[in-house]
Amino acid sequence: MSTASRKKKKEKRIRIPAEYTESALHFKTGPGWKACYDSERELYTAETFEAGYYDLYEINEEIFSKLKTKGMERREAHGLINTGRHLYKSVSGCNSSYDIALDKEYMSLCPWADVQKTGEMWESELTDLAVAIFESEKQNREQRMKTLIFNGSPRVAGDTVSLIDRLTGLLDGEYKVVDAYRSNISPCMDCRYCWKKPGCAIKDEMQEVYRYIEDCDNIVIASPIYFSELTGKMLDVGSRLQTYFCSRFFRKEEVSIKPKKGAVILVGGGDGHIEKPYETACTLMHHMNCHNIYEVVCSFNTNKVPAIEDKKATEGIERIAKFLNSKE
Ligand SMILES: Cc1cc2nc3c(=O)[nH]c(=O)nc-3n(C[C@H](O)[C@H](O)[C@H](O)COP(=O)(O)O)c2cc1C
Repeated sequence: MSTASRKKKKEKRIRIPAEYTESALHFKTGPGWKACYDSERELYTAETFEAGYYDLYEINEEIFSKLKTKGMERREAHGLINTGRHLYKSVSGCNSSYDIALDKEYMSLCPWADVQKTGEMWESELTDLAVAIFESEKQNREQRMKTLIFNGSPRVAGDTVSLIDRLTGLLDGEYKVVDAYRSNISPCMDCRYCWKKPGCAIKDEMQEVYRYIEDCDNIVIASPIYFSELTGKMLDVGSRLQTYFCSRFFRKEEVSIKPKKGAVILVGGGDGHIEKPYETACTLMHHMNCHNIYEVVCSFNTNKVPAIEDKKATEGIERIAKFLNSKE
């Protein structure tokens, strides 16, 4: 790459979105580093930079508290910050320039960061050095627990959402909620692309969900019961898991999906026939390589008692959180 085009790329820097320049973010800065405390998300992150190197980390409260805006040497600050969890690395040297996203979520964890991009090289094209770094960071990258939650309810503040909110308040690590009624995810059209090829021909939000499914530690399916089943849109999203079925049964290939734990949360206005929706939820879980499934938590009679006021259900949510958070 010529010096001029490298310079041009360097100038293409990501700016801090306006909403993050508001008060939720508290910064400390020094020569060659910047750290941020996100008080809304209880998250500590930091970047370090020096000639040719740029790194992004998730740090903890202890590291953040030791960082000093005044009178701290670059080396001391870098030494503290780089004990954190590495999220992103960019190197622009004479012989090699590359960017490595060590955690694909780096932009959402660190939206304030002035991420520097250099060679635009990714995993498949890494240099030997980058491969070595990527491998040595693998454990680090994987240590943060990830939970994927499918929300099958159309109601933005309904019974399902109230229980999901209670659960996410108790979960360690990070989570992603897939909103079956509001996300841009089409149902499977049985085009049979996946009979022959991996992945799915429909290029919508499900592509990102596939990546999360393959990488995450836990899956939760939370849905109202409609006509003694999961809701229609939840089944639409679930139909897109057909690609995993086809890979095993038609193409005879194992998809690399991390084995995971799971939980099912159901709410119903009536007297509670959960057998069918629970069985369907378990089938979907199995397609996502989730076999260790916690006992179902449900709230019935929501026509009279909102799920969040149902003590049995909220206690069940606490047990699910404990189960998903545990390392066993
Ligand atoms: C179309 C439709 C079908 C339903 N079918 C059932 C059912 O079979 N069994 C049941 O217990 N509740 C049924 N309900 C009630 C919902 O499951 C209940 O109101 C639930 O608490 C809604 O959850 P949400 O607020 O998270 O959307 C149905 C509701 C609708 C709109």
